[in-house]
Amino acid sequence: MSRLIISGPYKFNDEIYVQGAKNSILPILASSIISRGECIIRNCPDILDVHTTIEILHYIGCKVKFEDSTICVNSENIVKNEIPEDLMRKMRSSIIFLGALIARTGRAKISLPGGCELGPRPIDMHVSSLKQLGVSVEIINGCLDFKIINKISEANISLPFPSVGATENIILASSICKGTVTINNASCEPEIVDLANFLKKIGVKIYGEGRNQIKVQGANKFHGCEHEIISDRIVATTILGAAATTGGAVTLKGINCEHLDTPISVFEEMGCFISKEKNALKMSAPEKLLPVKEVRSMPYPGFPTDSIPIMTACLCTANGVSILVENIFKNRFRHVEELCRFGANIKVEGNIAIINGVSHLFSSNVEAKDLRGAAALLIAALKSHGTSTISNINFLLRGYDLSKLIPKTIYKLEL
Ligand code: EPU
Repeated sequence: MSRLIISGPYKFNDEIYVQGAKNSILPILASSIISRGECIIRNCPDILDVHTTIEILHYIGCKVKFEDSTICVNSENIVKNEIPEDLMRKMRSSIIFLGALIARTGRAKISLPGGCELGPRPIDMHVSSLKQLGVSVEIINGCLDFKIINKISEANISLPFPSVGATENIILASSICKGTVTINNASCEPEIVDLANFLKKIGVKIYGEGRNQIKVQGANKFHGCEHEIISDRIVATTILGAAATTGGAVTLKGINCEHLDTPISVFEEMGCFISKEKNALKMSAPEKLLPVKEVRSMPYPGFPTDSIPIMTACLCTANGVSILVENIFKNRFRHVEELCRFGANIKVEGNIAIINGVSHLFSSNVEAKDLRGAAALLIAALKSHGTSTISNINFLLRGYDLSKLIPKTIYKLEL
């Protein structure tokens, strides 16, 4: 079993260039197949989910090169429109190949995606939206077979919830529509804007990205492009969380401060001092953090669900009681039991975590259960005195390039 051995405590006093966003690079890599040309994508993080996506691209016939944070995808010759179950199961974002394959080949054969066990993660919104665009779906031997019936039709789709993945799949499938597709109650996340900017470069017309109504006008000619991935706001929040918890200071570089507005206000409530510069942010933390009244996760621009576990770790040693409310995923607090092994005092009631700050954490041996929960355990290990071990650390490596997060001298990785 993979594991990470950490010597704590580690007080941050670093300048860190934040890696490219996982939730941008994955859909952008998938949609590069629509271009039928060569796409050069910069600022790519070296994380497991990127390697899994490259495996899928190779499988369907693309030539891919990953060197020095630049990925070059050549998708002139796609030879397959199906994705094997073992690759689908490795990560949730494999579902974005659905819209990309439909747009490129008219057909996509996939099984249900895997990913972190954050609770039920159905794809009903993806399926019903694609049906409205003129795509049929059949279930054959547990495999979903999607086909364009005639053509991708103009449509006015209203999502019951601003799902990130469903918005992405609708945009991708609509990229070949002869006419306009309107998406109401679309996701407004910065990663949707990044995907739209990439698609515009390969020839698709998109309007309204970043707002809740998006319009897509398809194209019949596409071409390769160059694109740079935005920085990862969840990784940025993780670093801020680690610096805040350990009473340190940190400068984040290469970021868009606007994407961090809600986490920044929470860190300020915790007593941290933050100053924003162009594409950079400086934070220094007090010796003891203040508790927060209540943080609720919401779709962007609300507080991100992916940063809720990070806050559970930060608030473990705050000076009082804090409340976190998770509104997106049912099983966001699976890591809490493990945080308690460090000495944290947290009670979970349904979708609410009540955190009673303790004076200190002690080192422990714990097990990661999902990606952001693993990041929370890492923060707790950095705060504790002594050596801690986090097993199942592959969860963390799905989304974090550890070598760019903490100094190599304080950890040992066993894969
Ligand atoms: N949902 C449905 N039906 C659907 C689709 C979604 O009920 O057809 C529900 C989900 O079960 C969930 C909610 O809607 O309760 C939100 O899901 P959404 O579709 O927005 O999430 P996603 O596209 O599966 C992306 C990120 C997640 C992030 C969420 C929410 C990627 C690859 N993943 O997932 O990131 O938590 O949006 O912001 O973009 C992570 O990076 O650790 C991660 C889990």
